[in-house]
Amino acid sequence: MATNVDTYQPITLPLDAVKPTTQASPPPPTTSPLSSNSTTVTINPSIKAPFNAIRSLFDHLYTNPDTAKELNATYPRRGILKTAATHNTTSDQKFTIDISGPRCALMPEAIRIALAPHGLPEVLEFFNTVSTTYIPPVLSHLNSLSGLDLHSVHRDYNVNLRLADYNPLTASPDSLNGCGAHTDYGTFTIIFQDGTPGLELEEISPCGKKTWAPVPGDATVILTGWCAVILSGGRIKAARHRVRRMPGVRRLSAILFLAPDLDVPLAPLEGVEPVRAFSELVMEGEMKVGEFKEVMGKRWRYREGNEEMEGGRGQFDQDAEIERLIYA
Ligand SMILES: [Fe+2]
Repeated sequence: MATNVDTYQPITLPLDAVKPTTQASPPPPTTSPLSSNSTTVTINPSIKAPFNAIRSLFDHLYTNPDTAKELNATYPRRGILKTAATHNTTSDQKFTIDISGPRCALMPEAIRIALAPHGLPEVLEFFNTVSTTYIPPVLSHLNSLSGLDLHSVHRDYNVNLRLADYNPLTASPDSLNGCGAHTDYGTFTIIFQDGTPGLELEEISPCGKKTWAPVPGDATVILTGWCAVILSGGRIKAARHRVRRMPGVRRLSAILFLAPDLDVPLAPLEGVEPVRAFSELVMEGEMKVGEFKEVMGKRWRYREGNEEMEGGRGQFDQDAEIERLIYA
């Protein structure tokens, strides 16, 4: 994998709850293709996700609802611990903890102290290390695949960090639907898994036949999203995926999402000749990344059971809707 870590100035994430204690930067990861989509790869990170800490954090919040309530009150717009699957049988059957730099900055000291013995410091340190160590080389890898300069539109570290608990104790314990089929909105996603299978990638054969290919449960995976497709004029393909549950089996994952800076017009980068026709909205750069996130966010929050959709469910397919928006 091509890297230019030496020439990149890493930006420190505002996850100041815990400073990284890693003294030496781990070596950049090597990648290997995971599917016929050359931008979907596995990496061999030198750090492991702290799944004991992640399990501890979820379990503590489930059994201490007052603490969970206080945590969610730090980001009242949408909360941090999402548990819609405790009562919604048709949504994704998972629980999540969504954190980011701005959300961490809002977290009162009392909450940090309360959660310190229950995994929060390990989780924040992990994400900090992953962000500063792996975002630059992965962007460089995508640059080498597509001939772009993606660093120029990722200066703010627009990162979201998610812990996912595919827990048997949801409203529909026998449901196989851990996470419905979709493509992520941003540039790329790094998924760390606890060894339990369930993640699947959509494969499309040369004759157009679609199948789901399981990913090994211990693989760490990089998936590309819609913003990468648009910025590259279609040179980078999106990685559609889903998570299937095994009834009675708990599965944990830790996910880092990177998107372009929110004020970047979402259009093919300067000098890029698109390989397929995009809509006028995209080609004229009339939609910024932040606006695109709002459009997509409504759909993924509906799929995850955290928000109703205006006008009901309708013809719901998140990716089909995005395709109508961005392609001519
Ligand atoms: Fe996803």
